[in-house]
Amino acid sequence: MTAAVIDGKAFAAGLRARVGEQARAFEAAAGRKAGLAVVLVGEDPASQVYVRSKGKATLEAGMASFEHKLPADTAQADLLALVAKLNADDAVDGILVQLPLPSGLDEKTVIDLIDPDKDVDGLTPLSAGRLASGLPGLVPCTPLGCLMLARDRLGDLTGKEAVVIGRSVLVGKPVAQLLLAENCTVTIAHSRTRDLAQVVRRADIVIAAVGRAEMVTGGWIKPGACVIDVGINRLPPGEGEAKGRLVGDVDFASASAVAGSITPVPGGVGPMTIACLLRNTLVAARRRAGVRGEEI
Ligand code: GUN
Repeated sequence: MTAAVIDGKAFAAGLRARVGEQARAFEAAAGRKAGLAVVLVGEDPASQVYVRSKGKATLEAGMASFEHKLPADTAQADLLALVAKLNADDAVDGILVQLPLPSGLDEKTVIDLIDPDKDVDGLTPLSAGRLASGLPGLVPCTPLGCLMLARDRLGDLTGKEAVVIGRSVLVGKPVAQLLLAENCTVTIAHSRTRDLAQVVRRADIVIAAVGRAEMVTGGWIKPGACVIDVGINRLPPGEGEAKGRLVGDVDFASASAVAGSITPVPGGVGPMTIACLLRNTLVAARRRAGVRGEEI
């Protein structure tokens, strides 16, 4: 192996500690804690785990956590009423509606109702438009985590060739915008891209966000490239040694023989998402309260 393994867990722990310090400074200046509201509809086991760890991390960072758990058969109107109530609640700086919503609920309508100034997930059309227009706003957490890791590893990203594999609203599109804002030359590749391996091979920075287990192999990687793997895929239980393992979108074994640096799965991008959510909550709280603070 030649690649340095990027320790996202350690980076995220440091970021959470910095957010915690700044959250205390915010509380002293504003006379109240920064607050994050998380809405979970239904009983999806993975979502329950995410929501629990988000609540725990929020409290650990010295912020107020408001959890709203609703049954799977919640009516659209009731969910919209809750979001409207959170929009109007001054103690709430950030609102996160855990996705996916149970069938029968319209995600787009629910997300669209979130006050863009409380949109700590960066998912509303206004947040996406602000990002694309270079205006200040809240940026989706996983893309921000990817950017922080790449910048920590490579320093100034100006002029670098970045290839993003995947064009989702949650990751691919926003991470491409963030890299563009850092003066990278950005290519967004996707399932219809012709000769994907050839496109990826020119990248100094690869962001893999397709959701296909171990699709990107060492042969696709330019020697020395920085590889950021957003994928979290569970291999089927029956596959010999692999049985039920969590793997990324990148084949770590072959890619790490060629890359300059690479994020592992788990322990790479994953831990950055919650850390960035806390960071966004603090940024939203400062803006809403008119309190200034250190860049984080
Ligand atoms: N479900 C999986 N990832 C996310 C995320 O980043 N935000 C929300 N709201 N739901 C998710």
